[in-house]
Amino acid sequence: MTLKENVVGVQHLGIPVWDLEGARHWYEEVLGFETAYQKQVFYPVRFDVVFLQQHDLTVELCCPPAHTHRALRERGHGVMAHYAMDAPDFAACAKRVAARGAALDVSTPDGCVLYEHIGPKGVRGINFVGPSNEVIELCHDYAEDYLGKTGLQGWSHLALKVADLSKTTDFYARLGFQKTADGYLDTPDGRLWIAFLTIRGFSLEVIQVLPGEAEQLRREPVGHLDHLALEVLDAGDALSACRRGRIPLVDQVVKRLPLFAHGVKCFTALGPDGERIEFCEMCKNNY
Ligand SMILES: [Fe+2]
Ligand SMILES: [Fe+2]
Repeated sequence: MTLKENVVGVQHLGIPVWDLEGARHWYEEVLGFETAYQKQVFYPVRFDVVFLQQHDLTVELCCPPAHTHRALRERGHGVMAHYAMDAPDFAACAKRVAARGAALDVSTPDGCVLYEHIGPKGVRGINFVGPSNEVIELCHDYAEDYLGKTGLQGWSHLALKVADLSKTTDFYARLGFQKTADGYLDTPDGRLWIAFLTIRGFSLEVIQVLPGEAEQLRREPVGHLDHLALEVLDAGDALSACRRGRIPLVDQVVKRLPLFAHGVKCFTALGPDGERIEFCEMCKNNY
């Protein structure tokens, strides 16, 4: 099976936290997530994990052992620069999130920004800071028909800052993502080219950064958003396909974790800029 045949879609976004209860509370109260599953896992040391859901967006808050928390706090943003939630009634969503105590991120100090050259009709966005310094954008795409929905609607996109747009586009095409839109953003330092790569309704916003920033990302690719988890039909087969395709592996074997009803088989590989991609098979029977 090729990776394209094996990948079913996006499973979750992994966010490491140092205060699990505080972060869970924030996600529930500020963004309206609901706890879907929680567990203590000993692999090989204790991790506390909570999966939260808001429409089609699942985040995995994972609290590693205390001695790692300082390093977590000191992480930069890395390749996975922010993630965005769909906000059909944008102004009302932004007002509600701010009223519930979320702070604006420094990237949008004045609030709402209009990105007129992104996507076919432009998008509006506002960036907030999450409990573990992750950047969360509320996003309204003018090309999207939100069918009269109101309130946050889960996954809009995950932004990747990359060194080479075409290399990243080719890489994710191997996993089944297709280019659905593009655009650019003019900054004081130069123009950033952007592509949207989509698999079954889940989009990546791929932003080609300027050479200076690319160098910085090469040094610290992993940030506050730790990994993107893709669901696969067969994790063992995906691992073999990654090996054949010379995709760098973090895990050399498939790990079995006692999560959800019947366990999960997973391993982590690296994308072209060092972003961590978890390939995750939801087991149908107890192993
Ligand atoms: Fe994960
Ligand atoms: Fe974005």
